[in-house]
Amino acid sequence: MKPAVIAMPGNEQLADELAAVLSLERAAATVRRFPDGESHVRIEAPVAGRAAVIVCTLDRPDDKLVPLLLLAAAARESGASSVGLVAPYLPYMRQDRQFHPGETISAQHVGSWISRYVDWLVSVDPHLHRIADLSQVYSVPSSVVHAAGSVATWVKANVPNPLLIGPDEESAQWVGDVAQRAGAPFAVLTKTRHGDRDVKVSVPEVERWRSHTPVLVDDIVSTARTMIETVSHLRRAGLAAPVCMAVHAVFAQTAFEDLLAAGAADVVSCDTIRHASNRISLTAPVADAVRTRLR
Ligand code: R5P
Repeated sequence: MKPAVIAMPGNEQLADELAAVLSLERAAATVRRFPDGESHVRIEAPVAGRAAVIVCTLDRPDDKLVPLLLLAAAARESGASSVGLVAPYLPYMRQDRQFHPGETISAQHVGSWISRYVDWLVSVDPHLHRIADLSQVYSVPSSVVHAAGSVATWVKANVPNPLLIGPDEESAQWVGDVAQRAGAPFAVLTKTRHGDRDVKVSVPEVERWRSHTPVLVDDIVSTARTMIETVSHLRRAGLAAPVCMAVHAVFAQTAFEDLLAAGAADVVSCDTIRHASNRISLTAPVADAVRTRLR
């Protein structure tokens, strides 16, 4: 029997693409809210004896987690032989340590909640900083898709004479990888975050790169303060208006508009979160990872 692909609301396009690429069957489900705000989920297709794959990217996660976990439970109780989760954006990974007394390491709790309901996980470049590997927070087997190859291909095809720039030390390895694949030089900045929207970056001797097109790359853009601060520094140093690239286009509130207004030449993202800036499809590598998990 073919595995069944179930989309959480908003994830229909990736679910359709995965079904087409992997010859899986799309299975309908209802996910709605009762008038009192509680979630009601229902699997609308026979999944007994079949592997179920739920597709749900997890930006703005607080509204999605409860229905997602209920849907995974419903699939299992309907007889699915296994329940997998494709979550191109994995939330709470930046809350990876107790920064202040009284806080908790949210990444660990969210990882353990999801791990109780699914048998495997596929995600794209989760924010792995102080957590070195997903297995430290997810107890189920997981596959991580890396966007670096697709980002590098886009840069090569679209940016003349690029200089890849990482906004902080954490990004060094990732930016270096993209730069190497794109055959371009790279620089990494020093970032200090003083608050949610208070970010300072320092730029190394950028003057020698004036003939290049700066390409800022980061895994997540949320408030865009990191990128906005970097764009301002680069412009003051006399560099060309940079292309800003992110894997995960979270873009809180007016962040996208703010970044364009700050002088970004273009804003480009991968399609892990649906957004106007999506220009790079990761369906093919995500499908490869799902295929492996379904074997
Ligand atoms: C940081 O740890 C991440 O890699 C990004 O640099 C960060 O999430 C960007 O956040 P924001 O857009 O809010 O500055």
